[in-house]
Amino acid sequence: MTDLSTPQPIVSAKGQVAFADETWSIDPKELQIFFQAEAVFWTANRTLKQWRHLLACSRLLTARLQPGDGKGGRLVGTTRVWSDQAYEAKLYDVVTAKDMMGLGIATTLVEWSLRHPGVGDVQRFVLETRDAMNLYTRFGFKRSEELETVHMRVDAAELHERGLRQ
Ligand SMILES: CC(C)(COP(=O)(O)OP(=O)(O)OC[C@H]1O[C@@H](n2cnc3c(N)ncnc32)[C@H](O)[C@@H]1OP(=O)(O)O)[C@@H](O)C(=O)NCCC(=O)NCCS
Repeated sequence: MTDLSTPQPIVSAKGQVAFADETWSIDPKELQIFFQAEAVFWTANRTLKQWRHLLACSRLLTARLQPGDGKGGRLVGTTRVWSDQAYEAKLYDVVTAKDMMGLGIATTLVEWSLRHPGVGDVQRFVLETRDAMNLYTRFGFKRSEELETVHMRVDAAELHERGLRQ
């Protein structure tokens, strides 16, 4: 059965952290500012146009530190999930604001993305990480050297050099 529930808020010393699917409501400018402020290495130069494309083809799950009236609030966490709906889903942009780390925000967002109805009926989830393995092994993710297949990739820039892309 599909689980449509949004995660319960996390209560922290700074206030309540609420979770939402903001795929269609978030301003890409706010995302750009958040990622620049958090100095996330893989999105330093991501443009607003790129953010709009990413939001059009994947789901953006957020965490916000809510003010007293419970509306809106500062963006403090994101996870983006892309899915082909039948075979594979991939997690991207798992980020927590530096001053809000260690509260379980990323764990909650990743856990939610794994059961999010927008992902459809896939057979597996994948992701890439440099040093946050501990966050994912608790959900069963394994490093590629533990798997029976190898992960291969080529960057668009190399394809361009090879004349395979303009
Ligand atoms: C990795 C990150 C998203 C974790 O966010 P968080 O909200 O603090 O995570 P949680 O509070 O849910 O912690 C979950 C676990 O992740 C692990 N973890 C947290 N931060 C980590 C980090 N920087 N590196 C490695 N593991 C980390 C811890 O083992 C923690 O387990 P614990 O609860 O037993 O201590 C956050 O540190 C971050 O935004 N880092 C910069 C961006 C990044 O590297 N993202 C991951 C891309 S794959």
